[in-house]
Amino acid sequence: MSLLLFLHLFGAVIFLGNIITAAFWKIRTDIKGDPAFIHNTVKNVMLADFIFTLPGLILIIVSGNLMAVQAGYSMYGFNWLTLSLILFSLTGILWLTVLLPAQRSMIRHSAQSIETGIISKAYRKASLYWAIFGITATLLPVIILYFMITKGF
Ligand code: HEM
Repeated sequence: MSLLLFLHLFGAVIFLGNIITAAFWKIRTDIKGDPAFIHNTVKNVMLADFIFTLPGLILIIVSGNLMAVQAGYSMYGFNWLTLSLILFSLTGILWLTVLLPAQRSMIRHSAQSIETGIISKAYRKASLYWAIFGITATLLPVIILYFMITKGF
């Protein structure tokens, strides 16, 4: 159990750590306003998702489910675990349907902005979507973190 908990917490650390710091670097680069710099950063945000976010998610899901089975926690009805699973699924859906496409779009439009020298409206639109849904997809795991620690209901 302690190895599983370690893997679970390690997954949560790299997952949450990466999504929070990605937002920091992205905001910093947008403020600078240099298209080449922006392009480089959004490509690295995508790369970091595959190096940290995805393995973090896999560790969380595998270890979390194994611990739940071992501890005999109920996966039915309304409790801290089932509500967390709903919020976690919502995070995954947001990530797959909005954030990843927005990141692809930011990479494409920032590359075009290097050619024109002007940050395009299309880039700004994708960036706004990424910010709005990114905040939601970051807050949900923080709420889950609270439920996991308190196991209050
Ligand atoms: C962003 C997502 C998640 C975060 C940040 C997170 C975080 C945590 C943390 C910090 C703990 C330790 C609580 C403690 O020992 O006091 C924990 C425990 C636990 N987590 Fe998660 N978790 C997440 C997702 C999941 C998922 C998807 C499952 C799947 C079933 C899960 C199942 C569990 C279980 C069963 C425990 C309790 C282990 C025990 O009995 O001590 N977690 N989680």
